Amino acid sequence: MGSIEAIGIDAITFSVPRSYLDLGDLAVARGVAADKYRLGLGVSQMAIAAADEDPVALAAGAGSRLLAASGRDPSEIGFCAVGTETAVDHSKPVSSYVHGLLGLPSRCRVFETKHACFGATAALLSATEWIASGAARGRAALIIASDIARYEIGSPGEPTQGAGAVAMLVSERPRLLELEVGRTGSFARDVHDFWRPLHRKDALVDGKFSVECYLDALGHAYRDWQEQAAGGEPLVRTCYHVPYGKMAHKAHRVRSSVDGLDEAAADRDFELTVAPSLRFASQVGNIYAGSLYLALASLLHAEAAALEGRRIGLFSYGSGCAAEFFAGRVAAGAAAMVARLDLGAPLAPGARARLTIPAYEALRRDDASADRRASEVSSERPFAFLGVDPAERRRYMSGILRDG
Ligand code: CAA
Repeated sequence: MGSIEAIGIDAITFSVPRSYLDLGDLAVARGVAADKYRLGLGVSQMAIAAADEDPVALAAGAGSRLLAASGRDPSEIGFCAVGTETAVDHSKPVSSYVHGLLGLPSRCRVFETKHACFGATAALLSATEWIASGAARGRAALIIASDIARYEIGSPGEPTQGAGAVAMLVSERPRLLELEVGRTGSFARDVHDFWRPLHRKDALVDGKFSVECYLDALGHAYRDWQEQAAGGEPLVRTCYHVPYGKMAHKAHRVRSSVDGLDEAAADRDFELTVAPSLRFASQVGNIYAGSLYLALASLLHAEAAALEGRRIGLFSYGSGCAAEFFAGRVAAGAAAMVARLDLGAPLAPGARARLTIPAYEALRRDDASADRRASEVSSERPFAFLGVDPAERRRYMSGILRDG
């Protein structure tokens, strides 16, 4: 690594759609006990995207907020990757639109990554290795995870939807989390647990099998990580990929069993070491590629001051499947950075509107198939999808261009 110092996450922010569905309302509408969603799945609200809130608009919103809140100028970015499983085109990546909308430099490596919910982790780890190699030459990487999680209305997956984007600035001397570059535990297997054929907006999933695949991948990746990172300090907190809160609970039991703890001990440990990372997810739902990083944001928002200098673990799972377990150390001064980033702002009281069930179902019907024509969509959002033009090029509203 030569003279390169610590590498990791310097700043993090997220964006969510302006509307959410309360899971209590959904339980009534579907004739299900409210506790099944609240306690059985661990979700209380989920974000629902409107027609103008596509993965590009959500990504650009998160990225713009990140640059403004972290005090970084776009000219400092030399690498821009977007992890998504909600691609908007077979060829043109979400990252190209983001690059344009945020006014990033032309001397920049720009690409999109896909591996279900693992895509953003692949991008994040590539960025750390880009910096470690010396290629960054002092520049930073912008990594964004952006997805809209959709299952058929009335299907078992319906209460595990969500939408949102998480943006991360990756650099030397990070102000939030120093990552242990090159020491990860990985696992991959060709399975059909979750898939979204090219012609579909709603995902297909073998729900119970997907849970088994996640837990199996965690066991393997964690054991591999233990071999790479043997002898280090214990992990005081762990963030897991969170398709719904209860999944993190199941994950922690499996991971704890590898460490020799029984279920009762694992459950006690869960309250201290995992629960603080689940608050944002319980209000947003599954955001696929960004879910692990929303958990990290939630953890830092809740506990950054107490965690400065401490080592935490991260587990990323992408159906299909690929998984990676890795670790990092919360940076000295992280609490001040977290306060500056105002991480809870997108979920503050009054920031979002609660949808009625008929309004939610109407949104889903309207957005069921092809993208709208440009003349059919209007928006007040700083970054918004405005529809496609006659040549099927996607059109966006850019807060930066409009304000400038
Ligand atoms: N009070 C409290 N709990 C209740 C309850 C009640 N009244 N009624 C039911 N429950 C509990 C059940 O006991 C169960 O708990 P356990 O999991 O601890 O056994 C839980 O609620 C869920 O109920 P079901 O077992 O009946 O499950 P379901 O048929 O409703 O389906 C699901 C659950 C499989 C997660 C489904 O929502 C789904 O398919 N979701 C999408 C797939 C998914 O998220 N998979 C996760 C792993 S894959 C991954 O992580 C990648 C990704 O992001 C998609």
